[in-house]
Amino acid sequence: VLVTQPLFQNPTGATLAPARRPEILAIARAAGAFVVEDDFARRLVHDDAGPLPAPLAADDPDGTVVHVCSLTKVTSPSLRVGALAARGPVLERLRAIQVVDSFFVPRPLQEAALELVGSPSWGRHLAAVATELRHRRTALATALGGELPELALPHLPAGGGSLWLRLPGGGADESALVSAALRASVAIAPGRPYFCAEPPAGHVRLSFAAVSGAAEIAEGVRRLRTAFDGLLGG
Ligand SMILES: Cc1ncc(COP(=O)(O)O)c(C=O)c1O
Repeated sequence: VLVTQPLFQNPTGATLAPARRPEILAIARAAGAFVVEDDFARRLVHDDAGPLPAPLAADDPDGTVVHVCSLTKVTSPSLRVGALAARGPVLERLRAIQVVDSFFVPRPLQEAALELVGSPSWGRHLAAVATELRHRRTALATALGGELPELALPHLPAGGGSLWLRLPGGGADESALVSAALRASVAIAPGRPYFCAEPPAGHVRLSFAAVSGAAEIAEGVRRLRTAFDGLLGG
């Protein structure tokens, strides 16, 4: 099984290059493997992203890809409703496992989800999220560029809720920065758990989605600057 996030990967925000899409499907087919496409960020697109690539599952006529998505991030942490799309024998197997494991999604949640996505305001909600995410991403990238130019931003994502930053070589150590940030009341995620092997450099993931607004982002970056200076003894 290959688990992949072709669109706005967490944590980098990267999107799979068009040429790699058929390559992945061909390798999976040749190996008799399944591809689990975690499409969790499709509805976290920013409003300056341009047209999105279709899910990998759209190019898969024979049931190699299992497509997974969810309403949770774009609505509420308590709306735990997701969707799984598969075809062929894998669908039958997954259906059987799901009946055993979870029986069904609670009926009130199903009704709430249906009412939400069927309501005339659903499109407006998605558009508002896309605009707000772009504002917050821009606020964070701008604040970092001004206050913390030492942290490199290799890719400005057009979707998702975080930025992935590389720490300067020979400078502050990643876990020390995460701890110093926490002492300054800023929660950032260390990069190391995202690597299977030894990371090429220290990284941190900064989330901008769950904040009250641009002012909180600016304040968070100021505190991160202080934490960073403390580590460097500056
Ligand atoms: C890559 C990835 N897939 C899936 C999820 C779960 O998404 P949800 O909260 O919509 O269930 C997350 C949550 O952070 C994620 O980062």
